[in-house]
Amino acid sequence: MKPEDLAASMKIDFQAGHIHLGKNRFLLFSTDGLGFLRKDLINTLGDEITKGVLFRLGYQAGYIEAINLAKDFSWENDQERLQAVCDLHTIKGLAQPVDIKIEVAPDKKHLYMEGKWLDSFEVEQHLKHFGLEKHSVCWTLEGLVSGYVSAVIGHTALCLETACRGKGDPACSWQVKPAAEWGRTGKEMSDFLRSIDIRGRIDLLEQIVDEKTRALKETHEYLLRAEKLVAIGQISAKIAHEIRNPLTVVGGFANLIQRRTRLKMPEKKYVEIIISEVGRLERFLNDVLTYSTEFPIERRQLNINKLIIEVLLLYEDTLARSGIAVHQYLEEDMPLILGDKKKLEEVFIHLFSNAVNAMPKGGHLRIITSHMPDPPPSRLRIEIADSGVGIPADVLDKIFEPFFTTKTISSGLGLTVSREILKRHNGTIKILSEVGKGTTVIVELIL
Ligand SMILES: Nc1ncnc2c1ncn2[C@@H]1O[C@H](COP(=O)(O)OP(=O)(O)OP(=O)(O)O)[C@@H](O)[C@H]1O
Ligand SMILES: [Mg+2]
Repeated sequence: MKPEDLAASMKIDFQAGHIHLGKNRFLLFSTDGLGFLRKDLINTLGDEITKGVLFRLGYQAGYIEAINLAKDFSWENDQERLQAVCDLHTIKGLAQPVDIKIEVAPDKKHLYMEGKWLDSFEVEQHLKHFGLEKHSVCWTLEGLVSGYVSAVIGHTALCLETACRGKGDPACSWQVKPAAEWGRTGKEMSDFLRSIDIRGRIDLLEQIVDEKTRALKETHEYLLRAEKLVAIGQISAKIAHEIRNPLTVVGGFANLIQRRTRLKMPEKKYVEIIISEVGRLERFLNDVLTYSTEFPIERRQLNINKLIIEVLLLYEDTLARSGIAVHQYLEEDMPLILGDKKKLEEVFIHLFSNAVNAMPKGGHLRIITSHMPDPPPSRLRIEIADSGVGIPADVLDKIFEPFFTTKTISSGLGLTVSREILKRHNGTIKILSEVGKGTTVIVELIL
């Protein structure tokens, strides 16, 4: 079958509004229209999916053409049928096929074809919308030849470009071989022949975009909050500073009055209340300042056991009054640490005061210190365990949050500040608790 004979058999049926080549109904469709479709597909679905869609479109069309043409025309041999797919390129205006070589064994197992496409409509349209690419672009043509040849030989063959003008090569060169002979590329292209779940891919993409948008929004809100917190921190530090001095004066005078004046009730009680409340406010302001400012750390060599014993002394009366028995297991010869004595004292004041608060009806307070050289890093471990009320799981999540408290007249800064001070000392704090059984605080300081 000569290409001219094939072309002459093309019929335009004006009555039916059909164009036929044998039983195949064709369309005369503008290449520009297809170019816009390609552009939209690539812009919405990306290169990979578009390649798959166009390859599959070509494959299906080529396959059916081969079957119909086999019935409608008489062919000398397979060689002639295979040649026709190239002639059809010209008839359909797809490209000019040149340098065609066809090898096909009588049993059709061996197959090899090669050739070139000049002026491929796909290159023309792709360059128009996207310019030069790093990959080949004649996806529909590849599909058409693959489908047509596969139908002729009865097993899947793939036509792939080895060069393409769409990526700057001088011509579009292609080869056709059985799919298995193309290796991994063949497997990838064969995957396109299965239907592509475009909806699923779009849903997945939408889901990813949604997640990314949500994360971006959260980061934005977090940054706004962080910015606000920094401002609040600065304001709090300023207010705490301003209040602290006059408060010291009030406390000082109240102490003076208590010492120098023989007060009677109820004035005596009033002054005592002033002194105790001023003390509470001073501690609160101190916590606020520690939390909201970059407090300086003065490092000196410290014996942690000694520091704990000194802090415990401050609680001697309170512990005795509350019916709390203290059990100390302090390891001897603990290495000294470099730390800020006042700040570390503050930590243990907070921890002991929490323990005391947790045991209003008395109980046991166990303090264990130890040196843990292994596993590295070498560190000091201080365990403070009370037999108090314990902390419910939902509260445990929040206890390190600033201003979180379950007490009526507390600031809720004790643990926040303690963790901050320990962090500055290369230390950590961990709290384990069981409601009704007690709480264990584990402090570790890396040496
Ligand atoms: N040993 C403990 N036993 C039971 N609950 C505890 C213990 N330590 C802390 N908590 C819980 O953690 C909360 C927060 O403790 P944190 O020390 O930060 O603040 P606070 O003691 O409430 O107030 P502040 O320490 O500022 O006076 C407490 O209100 C309490 O509910
Ligand atoms: Mg506390």
